[in-house]
Amino acid sequence: MSAAGHDQSRAPYLDAVAAYAARQPTRFHVPGHKGGAGADAALVEAFGQAAFAHDLAQGIDGIDDSPEPTPYALAERLAAEAYGAEKSWFLTNGASQGNHALCLALAPLGRHVIAQRNSHASIVDGLVLSGGNPIFIEPEYDSELGMALGVEPAKLVALLAEHPEAHTAFIVSPTYYGLAADVARCAEVAHAAGAALVVDQSWGAQLGFHPDLPPSALALGADAVLTSTHKLGGSMTQSAMLHLGSGGRIDEAAVGRAVRILRSTSQSTLLIASLDAARRQLATRGEELLAETLEKLVVVRERLEAIDGIELIDESFVGRPGIAGFDPLRIVLDVRATGCSGLEFLEHLRTRHDVHPEMAAQATVVFIVSLAETDQQLNRLVSAVGASAAELSCGVVVEVEPVPRLELFGGCVVSPREAFLGEAEVVPLDQAVGRISCESIAGYPPGIPALLPGERVSADVIDNLRQTAAAGSRLHGASDPTLTTIAVLLEERPA
Ligand SMILES: Cc1ncc(COP(=O)(O)O)c(C=O)c1O
Repeated sequence: MSAAGHDQSRAPYLDAVAAYAARQPTRFHVPGHKGGAGADAALVEAFGQAAFAHDLAQGIDGIDDSPEPTPYALAERLAAEAYGAEKSWFLTNGASQGNHALCLALAPLGRHVIAQRNSHASIVDGLVLSGGNPIFIEPEYDSELGMALGVEPAKLVALLAEHPEAHTAFIVSPTYYGLAADVARCAEVAHAAGAALVVDQSWGAQLGFHPDLPPSALALGADAVLTSTHKLGGSMTQSAMLHLGSGGRIDEAAVGRAVRILRSTSQSTLLIASLDAARRQLATRGEELLAETLEKLVVVRERLEAIDGIELIDESFVGRPGIAGFDPLRIVLDVRATGCSGLEFLEHLRTRHDVHPEMAAQATVVFIVSLAETDQQLNRLVSAVGASAAELSCGVVVEVEPVPRLELFGGCVVSPREAFLGEAEVVPLDQAVGRISCESIAGYPPGIPALLPGERVSADVIDNLRQTAAAGSRLHGASDPTLTTIAVLLEERPA
């Protein structure tokens, strides 16, 4: 990706923190562990003294005499240049913070926005904070594999025409499975309707840094893009970035204000420095590291494909509805022909072979490959999958339960904010039919919320939740994990 402007081989924030730690100054400021002396000895042993020496609560800008622009500002500017953004913000509460901020900035009280129904929970949480109203758009589905895919641009055209009041559309690309939507066309149709396109590219911090990966959403015309940099971009857990495109459709000041009120006044220097360093690595060595990994993956896929009972979800899916690209840094197995579900296959890999995939669903198991994967790790993965398939195969093909479709949900009848913050009562689940849910409940996997705050509870939704739980999925977000009761909005009772 182009890095015009500043020298991408610099990491100003990391350098500033490292210089402070290296000169061993006398510290009479927080954090009170004072570089490790005040911390539990076993913790220092586990993390290493360096982690404590580099942990400075005020951030280095506040401690050292910072030049202008400060190391923090310069590091964000370098990130914007590396990602081809007009402006980038570092986030220390994950991409979730970015979704919350975008909702505050773009979906304030009473404003309608289009949002992919199976968006990450942080979108609806963001709407709870902001008071905006979602108009849901359904992604495409692969019903055989029980997989949600990307949004088809034609559906976006229709919904934008039906809802001229919606000036922003939130979509997700790529998916958990590495399948990218036709973002270029979605941006084109959104812009033609006078709307901004926000792409949750949490699973694609690495996109744009190698020509064989799908292009980044910013390069395809998106107006705002989230990258959960800790997922595949090489930074530490909980660190992420929010980028603004150059179309001028989104008010930079409004987003900046929202990002600021959602962050701690003591942002972790470790997380920020890790973002600065991850950006440097992607910009200066990303293409070379990715090239080596992609070459190894060609062989790995051939070996996996040769295993009885294992099919791969890969590049060959591109061109189906909702799929315009595939990120090869995901190994996605269809294990139905082994006779066990993805969830059972994952459990076997974990318990028998100590191999830990990212996630599994009824038909699939997903492995995340890093920028620079080692042969040793990849070989262990192939051997464990081969051994598991042989140990588990029983000649039966597993059938997948249907994925819940948009008709099941019915949309929000009051805003998520009203439902979440309104006066609630807890009722037995069967008595909740017709009432308005105060909860967000998703079966995980596949992680598609069956109920959101503000949606009416129907008998079909209750059946779907029960089936999901019976199939072995966890019910994420339910206040009563046994699903005996649920919180619904208190009804107005006649005086
Ligand atoms: C599509 C999507 N967006 C946002 C997030 C939240 O990311 P983070 O964990 O960085 O807050 C996730 C997390 O899995 C996700 O899958």
